[in-house]
Amino acid sequence: MTGPESEESPVRRAVCPGSFDPITNGHLDIIARASRLYDEVYVAVMINQSKKGLFEIEERIDLIRTVTAEYGNVRVEAFHGLLVDFCKQRDIPAIVKGLRAVSDFDYELQMAQMNNGLSGVETLFVPTNPTYSFLSSSLVKEVAAWGGDVSHLVPAEVLTALTERLGKD
Ligand code: PNS
Repeated sequence: MTGPESEESPVRRAVCPGSFDPITNGHLDIIARASRLYDEVYVAVMINQSKKGLFEIEERIDLIRTVTAEYGNVRVEAFHGLLVDFCKQRDIPAIVKGLRAVSDFDYELQMAQMNNGLSGVETLFVPTNPTYSFLSSSLVKEVAAWGGDVSHLVPAEVLTALTERLGKD
C-alpha cells in the first residue's frame, strides 16, 4: 500500500487517531492543521473495550463531527481493531499525531515503528501548540469533575456535554 513501488492514491489522505474522551482544543488544533495539509482527514475514534470512557463512542463521534464540521474535509469514524487495518481499508498512507512533550515521544515512537513495520504506514508528528502542551482528555475530566474551569481547554459543545455528564452548572 505505501511501499516505494506501490501506486500512490491521487487523493492525499491522513488519519488522526485517538480515544477522544472527549475531544479537546489540543486535538482540534492537530486535526485543523492536518486538514490544511491533506485532501481528506479521517478522525478515527479507536474503541478500547477494556477502557470505560466518560462518553459513549457515539457521543464522542457526534461531538467531533460538530466541532470539525467547518473544515469540510474531515470524516469521523469509530473503529474496533488495529489502526493499520483502519488505514489499509481506506487507503490511508499517513497517521498524524500531536507531540506535546518529550514524555510523549517514547511511546509514540514505539507505536509509529510498530505501525510502519506492520503495514508501511507512515506517522507524522506535529508539535503541539504550546498553549496546549499540558492538555489531555484525562486532565480535563479530572479538573471538570472537581468543578474547575476548563472552558478555555475544550470547544463550547464539549464543555456543555461535560457539564451535563458531570452534573455541574
Ligand atoms: O488518545 P489515545 O488513547 O492516546 O490514543 C491511542 C490510540 C487509540 C491512537 C492507540 O492506542 C491505537 O492506535 N489503538 C488502536 C489499536 C492499535 O492499533 N494498537 C497498536 C498500536 S502500535
